[in-house]
Amino acid sequence: MKGVVLAGGFGTRLLPLTKVTNKHLLPVYDKPLIYYPIQTLVDAGIREVMVVTGGNNPGDFLRLLGNGKDFDLKQLSYAYQEGAGGIAEALNLAEDFADGEKIIVILGDNIIEKHILKAKQDFEKQKRGAKIMLKEVPEPQHFGVPQLDGKKVVRIEEKPKKPKSQYAVIGIYLYDNQVFDMIRTLDRSDRGELEITDVNNRYIEQGTMTWDELDGWWIDAGSSHEHLYRATQLVVKTGANNV
Ligand code: DAU
Repeated sequence: MKGVVLAGGFGTRLLPLTKVTNKHLLPVYDKPLIYYPIQTLVDAGIREVMVVTGGNNPGDFLRLLGNGKDFDLKQLSYAYQEGAGGIAEALNLAEDFADGEKIIVILGDNIIEKHILKAKQDFEKQKRGAKIMLKEVPEPQHFGVPQLDGKKVVRIEEKPKKPKSQYAVIGIYLYDNQVFDMIRTLDRSDRGELEITDVNNRYIEQGTMTWDELDGWWIDAGSSHEHLYRATQLVVKTGANNV
């Protein structure tokens, strides 16, 4: 299985910090933010990774991450997203890299305390489809929110005003190679983006979506100054990526 880290977008919610750099290069305690999601993939046994970036500082990613040697990667590839047309648009750039294999996609601003080994192993056995990870949160309206019928996810709503559960869909997605065909069928949302939630709803409609509950804390560090600050506090207090 290969890994894809999505680190495009303009990071406008973090201005002025992102005026001269990309939000994924900002510090979270002693490391740049993007180190954490890369480490999550490495801890899950992934050795081939693509970083999709965008904005004004793509060269800085190469300078920082090079050929991935510091993470013991076999291959580190890069793609460049023009504009910020959404998470699914960024993912679409990884089609050739995936080369028909299953992939784990992680958002470049998501940090988790523990690991996703079990989810990855279960997904290896899953014949087809996708898997998402859920986490109970106090304010689900800021995220993709699943509607559950017993243990089954029946639909995901993106940032709903009235969330239908207390869970957030976190930014770690496991997909089979149908994902790229599904992205091709998407329409842009009201905010002009190709939404990852629409991709996930396609898998739900197909009946091939499974989910796991994430163990340990999770933070969407790039969504606000408070979250970025809180991420540093969590990392200092408990560490991240503990296998
Ligand atoms: O963090 C989890 C949440 O992430 C999910 O619950 C939501 O369903 C999902 O839509 C997403 O919501 P956000 O509003 O937090 O997404 P954001 O625009 O912050 O983008 C998250 C990451 O995706 C960001 O770190 C970089 C990457 N990205 C985003 C956009 C819009 C790209 O690579 N390209 C893009 O065009």
